[in-house]
Amino acid sequence: MNRRLERIQALIPQGRGVIDVGTDHGYLPAALAKAGYPGVILASDINDEPLHAAKRTAQAAGVTDKIRFLLCDGLHGCDPEAVDTLVLAGMGGDLICRILDEAEWTMDPQYTMILQPMTKAEVLRYWLSNNDYGIVREDLVEDGGKLYSILTVRFGTAWPLTDAELFTGSRKLLAEDPLFQPFLEAQITRMEKALAGMEEGSDMDVGKHKLYAEVLCQMREMR
Ligand SMILES: C[S@@+](CC[C@H](N)C(=O)[O-])C[C@H]1O[C@@H](n2cnc3c(N)ncnc32)[C@H](O)[C@@H]1O
Repeated sequence: MNRRLERIQALIPQGRGVIDVGTDHGYLPAALAKAGYPGVILASDINDEPLHAAKRTAQAAGVTDKIRFLLCDGLHGCDPEAVDTLVLAGMGGDLICRILDEAEWTMDPQYTMILQPMTKAEVLRYWLSNNDYGIVREDLVEDGGKLYSILTVRFGTAWPLTDAELFTGSRKLLAEDPLFQPFLEAQITRMEKALAGMEEGSDMDVGKHKLYAEVLCQMREMR
């Protein structure tokens, strides 16, 4: 299992059950089962092929009987009573928003949600804070030369983030993380490139340019 998934595994509390939505090869559920996770383990995917791969992973690890496999879109096949931890990792931030939005039962502080967006983390943080899903913990992990954000989220605990923090994660939560400064620099470079790209284009979105310029100023002040 890669370092990104290992870090996610380390954040999963011992509880009554966990679902890994979009499990793909099913590495996380197999690792949890092997580590003796005490509750129910659900591995779900919207596509047949990844779910078969997840079954093969479980078989190779000798833990098939410890995992339930679900072919479903998002959380639609998940029994809310069976789990208390939800993992949505390796997907776009917008898809994670859509999956949570379609599962109103997650609006309940009993659930711990571990979210790892591959793209559009700012869209996800914006949606979370507007819907009272509080980010209670942020982690950064380096894997294969890339930095990934992992958000631990619980309903009913949201507080406002600055526009820059929608991109970087909460400065307060990441203050002690040694990867925060390199991550911030990467976000600053990304924002500079986005602004330069807009300025070179023929029909610049003036409102978006103004917002990104303000975000860039805020990011530089976070150095
Ligand atoms: C890039 S893989 C991520 C695998 C793993 N979670 C990880 O973090 O490495 C994304 C997986 O999400 C699945 N997926 C995409 N949309 C989904 C949805 N709406 N519901 C459930 N699974 C979905 C895809 O089939 C794919 O297997």
